[in-house]
Amino acid sequence: MDAEKAAALPGSVGVIGGGRMGAGIAQVFAARGAEVWVVESDDTAVAAARERVAAGVAKAADRGKLSEEPSAVLDRVAVVAELGRLPSEVGLVVEAVPERAESKVDVLTRVEAVVSERTVLASNTSSLSIAELGAALRDPGRFLGLHFFNPVPASSLVEVVTAPATRESVVDTARAWVRALGKTDVVVHDSPGFATSRLGVLLGLEAIRMLEEGVADAEAIDNAMELGYRHPMGPLRSTDLVGLDVRLAIAEYLHSTLGERFAPPQLLRDKVAAGELGRKSGRGFHDWS
Ligand SMILES: NC(=O)c1ccc[n+]([C@@H]2O[C@H](COP(=O)([O-])OP(=O)(O)OC[C@H]3O[C@@H](n4cnc5c(N)ncnc54)[C@H](O)[C@@H]3O)[C@@H](O)[C@H]2O)c1
Repeated sequence: MDAEKAAALPGSVGVIGGGRMGAGIAQVFAARGAEVWVVESDDTAVAAARERVAAGVAKAADRGKLSEEPSAVLDRVAVVAELGRLPSEVGLVVEAVPERAESKVDVLTRVEAVVSERTVLASNTSSLSIAELGAALRDPGRFLGLHFFNPVPASSLVEVVTAPATRESVVDTARAWVRALGKTDVVVHDSPGFATSRLGVLLGLEAIRMLEEGVADAEAIDNAMELGYRHPMGPLRSTDLVGLDVRLAIAEYLHSTLGERFAPPQLLRDKVAAGELGRKSGRGFHDWS
């Protein structure tokens, strides 16, 4: 590991929620030498999160991406069910619980009560307002968005989302951490959907409307963008990977904040209601079974 990079990371990191994103975030910090605490909601979720982190670390090892034994990385990851187990001097806590403002605010305020005033707090939200989430904190100046992408170990981008209250020193520190993880940061001012979800979701919704109107089938629409515009993945395939339910939740939020152009198409609602959620359910706009 590059010593300069290692020095730029926080020595310890808390991750609240060890789901798809939280497990990936825990893995990348631990693989670069940080001690990581993953906090889950109960013992069953702790076991599942532990397995997710172990599977991710094993995959990284298989691909030759680790500079040490997988067990050495896993030894730095503790998965616990009690938020109070976070060390008070933890350098950074990233919240990665489901995309519901109430849950995130609840978690963030409880974290703030446990950690030192020097701890940087971040949310991995895909779309929610950082200013609104931060408003419940005693010190919103220490809070910002760190929007990691899925799958975290393989994605090179982290959106660094700043609210008006976020201190400049906190932004600078967080950007240095992102770079120390070997990822690229883009700074975006707090605004619904930031840069990525706002553009990515809009493209996906328009592709769904084109499907509804019979402009072309899903394969043709995706091929058009992949081959014609050199997008690595067409908008419908990408919606399948993210999850149609996740996309619908983001679209509903963007609809309420940014207006009609984000109105979720009926076809998206119908597919979510039918349980066609994309790759995770075996079927979305494409067949993944
Ligand atoms: N899935 C994606 O592609 C993606 C990409 C970027 C950002 N995000 C964002 O990341 C966040 C998490 O998404 P995900 O896909 O990992 O969800 P997920 O459902 O896979 O994981 C959420 C985890 O949080 C845990 N949890 C719920 N309430 C908790 C609590 N009070 N305390 C501790 N743990 C709790 C759950 O048990 C679950 O393991 C969301 O805000 C989402 O919008 C998701």
